[in-house]
Amino acid sequence: MSKAPASLRLDRLLANMGYGSRREIQALAKNGRILLDGEPVRDADRRIPVTGDLPARMTLDGRAIDPPPGLTLMLHKPLGVTCSHKEAGALVYDLLPARWRQRDPAISTIGRLDKETSGLLLMTDDGDLLHRVISPRHHVAKRYRVTLDRPLRGDEAATFAAGGLMLEGETKPLLPAVMETLSPTLALLTLTEGRYHQVRRMFAAMGNHVTALHRESLGGLALPGDLEPGAWRVLEATDIAAIFAGPN
Ligand code: URA
Repeated sequence: MSKAPASLRLDRLLANMGYGSRREIQALAKNGRILLDGEPVRDADRRIPVTGDLPARMTLDGRAIDPPPGLTLMLHKPLGVTCSHKEAGALVYDLLPARWRQRDPAISTIGRLDKETSGLLLMTDDGDLLHRVISPRHHVAKRYRVTLDRPLRGDEAATFAAGGLMLEGETKPLLPAVMETLSPTLALLTLTEGRYHQVRRMFAAMGNHVTALHRESLGGLALPGDLEPGAWRVLEATDIAAIFAGPN
């Protein structure tokens, strides 16, 4: 994955966005089916600036084109789908337009949620952004709503806040995490790390069992209440800024 180039030939740009081979794009252009600012672009060699406003300016057969490279989106991940490009069963990528599987640079998830975790999942083709969000250096806080099998004992918040909890099979203790109790079996847990099955393992270390897990926010970016499970939307620059604007 790499950052979006400043400009690309029309045939390369649309082929990289999954609209067909370069030869097919050349034919579409020649036939006047691609318009930029209302004018046909018949020359597929023409270099097109790769800017976020292209979908508002370019159409193919009268329909706005997809967002160009530099695409980041939020998905309300439903239960039962896997964050993987190639495992068996339903995948998060199946929830996006089929053409997007052909995109180059490819879209990847920013971190992962377990198959049986729902909530805010970010996806991007911007490798730099992906690394900034997952890098421990940036301390992007991840807030989870956790439903438990048994009532909380009462010492969980203090144990998590102190840091130093050692998860089974690990050699490095956990960083401090913030837990807020909403009811005897419901809590909000905010982490700045992203270890494998971390939330489930933290509660297992406290003798409990997580029965439902939902991610509500990443940094200052929350899953909007009107984004249904399985639905997604493209992020604006202000949303991306919010990820790094805390809380952390
Ligand atoms: N912690 C977990 O246990 N699972 C997730 O999906 C995310 C955090």
